[in-house]
Amino acid sequence: MTLTAQPSRALQGTIAVPGDKSISHRALMLGALAVGETRVSGLLEGEDVLATGEALRRMGAEITRHQDGTWSIWGVGVGGLKEPETVLDFGNSGTGVRLMMGIVAGHPITATFTGDASLSKRPMGRVITPLTEMGAHIHAREGGRLPLTLTGAERALPITYPLPVASAQVKSAVLFAGLNAPGQTTVIEPAPTRDHTELMLKAFGAQVATEEGPKGVRVIRVTGEPELKACTLAVPGDPSSAAFPVVAALITPGSDITVTGITLNPHRSGLYTTLIEMGADIEILNQRQEGGEPVADLRVKASELKGIEVPPERAPSMIDEYPVLAVAASFAEGKTVMRGAEELRVKESDRIAATAAGLRANGVKVEDLPDGMIVEGRAGTVEGGGHVATHMDHRIAMSFLTLGLGAQKPVTIDAGEMIATSFPDFTGLMRRLGAQLESGANA
Ligand code: S3P
Repeated sequence: MTLTAQPSRALQGTIAVPGDKSISHRALMLGALAVGETRVSGLLEGEDVLATGEALRRMGAEITRHQDGTWSIWGVGVGGLKEPETVLDFGNSGTGVRLMMGIVAGHPITATFTGDASLSKRPMGRVITPLTEMGAHIHAREGGRLPLTLTGAERALPITYPLPVASAQVKSAVLFAGLNAPGQTTVIEPAPTRDHTELMLKAFGAQVATEEGPKGVRVIRVTGEPELKACTLAVPGDPSSAAFPVVAALITPGSDITVTGITLNPHRSGLYTTLIEMGADIEILNQRQEGGEPVADLRVKASELKGIEVPPERAPSMIDEYPVLAVAASFAEGKTVMRGAEELRVKESDRIAATAAGLRANGVKVEDLPDGMIVEGRAGTVEGGGHVATHMDHRIAMSFLTLGLGAQKPVTIDAGEMIATSFPDFTGLMRRLGAQLESGANA
């Protein structure tokens, strides 16, 4: 189904975006490995997270949704998952499949992992290598792609693994496999990545130690064979989802919106730092601590933005936000240079190629680089009128609908279905702010 964003009047109002995707996956996974009942409020009920829940159920965890929207997970204990009888399908989710590969690698069971066309193109070698070192046997398709079959270790080996790429998914897969290994499993990351796994492992009672080294290097150690204790968790709002209404408000004249309850974990808030440097009027209100994560409300007003050079070392803290940052940059005065983000090439789509093509279709000049892009800002006036190919990528879809709200002419995306993977009520919430989004025919 196509979706079209019409140039909109000022956006107004207060919304809460759905729960954080990274935290939601981890809450289900650790709940399933704990002993007792874990209660989770604010869980993201997007397709990616629901696929993780389904996989855990097939391996013996009991997961139910209550009428008030909270969830209960009855865990099986570390090492207690049973072999699934059918193939585990993770849909579009790299986080789901890679973290679950880590968990299964620490169990003496065999599981087959698959996903949709987008996920089946993405590299799994980055987790296959360390998990094989830990004793798992993995048979994947050519190039380390899905589908793959993994037989976990009888007795997993604790390893020390320096990550070749700064990836929270690979870090988490190794730490999760290390839960069922004797002794300490160590991950060395070249640059800090999101630390939800470490924070949540601690909340469940595992021993996790983090040492900061020189130049951003971090060493993370988990002690294996803990008894994870069920707990109560509140998932904060997702800053990666909030990015769309925030940028929409910045580029749509007269807008004044508030997005409540999002996590501003420093490993996730790079986009907001960058937008403020570009001159965005974003007030951070009501800062508080919820469920071990820093949380705040953001009041955002339409702003005249200026192009900047985004520090490349900031990339891991805003890795999912480059497409929507490129949209904000199109409305800025001057050039915005984004580098150090070569990982964008292997996300749900090649996000450098997909973003550059979408910008060009809407009259914005952009140079694509191997590790980022340079966007020539149009100082508030973006033509729009483009038809954008989303390549099964939810963030490309939402980024270009956002662009359409502030542009001169409507913007149409070829398919809106993938939005449900991370932000099921995107159109509903955006319409509540006054955005004009219209569904069309099948593309
Ligand atoms: C995620 C980590 C990031 C991010 C993804 C979610 C996570 O991927 O792009 O959307 O929950 O750990 P990488 O760790 O591969 O960079």
